[in-house]
Amino acid sequence: MQALFKEHPLIPVIVLEDANQAVPLARALLDGGVGIIEITFRTQAAANAIQAIREAIPEMLCGAGTVLSCDQAADAISAGAQFALAPCVDPDIIDYCRSSEIPFIPGVATPSDINQALKLGCKYQKFFPAGALGGASALNAMAAPYLSREVRFCPTGGVHLESMDSYLKLPHVFAVGGTWLAKSEDICSGDWSSITERCKVALERVGTANDTGALADITT
Ligand code: 3PG
Repeated sequence: MQALFKEHPLIPVIVLEDANQAVPLARALLDGGVGIIEITFRTQAAANAIQAIREAIPEMLCGAGTVLSCDQAADAISAGAQFALAPCVDPDIIDYCRSSEIPFIPGVATPSDINQALKLGCKYQKFFPAGALGGASALNAMAAPYLSREVRFCPTGGVHLESMDSYLKLPHVFAVGGTWLAKSEDICSGDWSSITERCKVALERVGTANDTGALADITT
């Protein structure tokens, strides 16, 4: 899992209504230096969007988000998803993804969730909804008892350009995710250059955080 994400500290979370937008959107992200994309199963377009990206842009790491059932996991895997996430800890989905050999990141919001996910073998976890739960200070406090267990988090939900540094500074954060990199209005209007520009600005900021020591553990 570490190898999968070590080049990708920013994960764009995508809600697509039209699968035809998937490839130009993925190219816009890639042009901005972001080589990973999470297509959420919040819409019917998800599986077709994943398949289109995998066929057209094989160098892009393409995953499925908001995977809430084993059926959705199966659809994501059939479409070619290379990883999957959920906002919750569901042992059935975790088992299914493990037996299908696809990396899976469950969502956690409490110490009990963190514990359960660890018991089920998931050291990489999505901290969701990060902003509403109290941001980086809440994650830092919640993760403290588990640091010796090598748990790693990707905060999403209410994360944005201005707040991402506060999470990325934490040693147990391997990436941050969110919809702010590819806003729905830009996707709807096909404003790909704005998305590319936003990625470049965000990655530049990550580089600055990295210089001060953040993300050190995911580059080893
Ligand atoms: C997710 O599915 O990861 C989040 O809902 C994204 O939240 P955001 O829209 O606040 O970035």
